[in-house]
Amino acid sequence: MASHLLFLALIMISCSIVLASDSSPLQDFCVADSNGPVQVNGLACKDPKLVQATDFFFSGLNMIGNTSNAVGSRVTPVTVAQIPGLNTLGISMARVDFALWGINPPHTHPRATEIFTVLEGTIQVGFITSNPENRLFSKVLQTGDVFVFPEGLVHFQRNVGNCNAVAIVGLSSQNPGVITVANAVFGAKPDIPDDLLAKAFQVEVKVVDQIQSKF
Ligand SMILES: *[C@@H]1O[C@H](CO)[C@@H](O)[C@H](O)[C@H]1NC(C)=O
Repeated sequence: MASHLLFLALIMISCSIVLASDSSPLQDFCVADSNGPVQVNGLACKDPKLVQATDFFFSGLNMIGNTSNAVGSRVTPVTVAQIPGLNTLGISMARVDFALWGINPPHTHPRATEIFTVLEGTIQVGFITSNPENRLFSKVLQTGDVFVFPEGLVHFQRNVGNCNAVAIVGLSSQNPGVITVANAVFGAKPDIPDDLLAKAFQVEVKVVDQIQSKF
């Protein structure tokens, strides 16, 4: 009996393998064929014989993003949409520029963890955990500091220094996606009913109408 239990325990231990690394591609690369007719999860592979170095290349991340907008920041993405060679590789990046007091408003990447590096300036960052705690983790970062936003969690950044700021981020998906909370809730097309949002946010309908008019 005891030996049976030991055997069972050994099986349970050997079966509880945790996959903690990236999932492995099944070929060297699968450069996205954006014109291909096949619909798959991701993008179909271009014929490897037609693949060129330019399929793995992007230029211009040294350029300062235009921050003349309502929030005072600009994200320049470098995902599979810019580099077809990222298809199936589970990684991408972006440059984020901030004007004085510019913010990157609360948003989430439904498919990626983000690792954020300050190249220049002083940036306040934060993320909020899921219900019911909704705990805020926040920190002020200086040049060279690195911070992580775990996959799926709502997060934000703000330039709190006295000059423009710039960050480079890595993302654990070829196509991280972005859901900006305010845009999704108040800028949905067509509108989410204002009385529904009034109840959700515990404010009067006219407050919701005012916010919706900005998006
Ligand atoms: C930056 O964006 C603003 C607003 O869209 C535009 O008016 C301006 O010309 C842009 N500046 C540059 C240098 O592209």
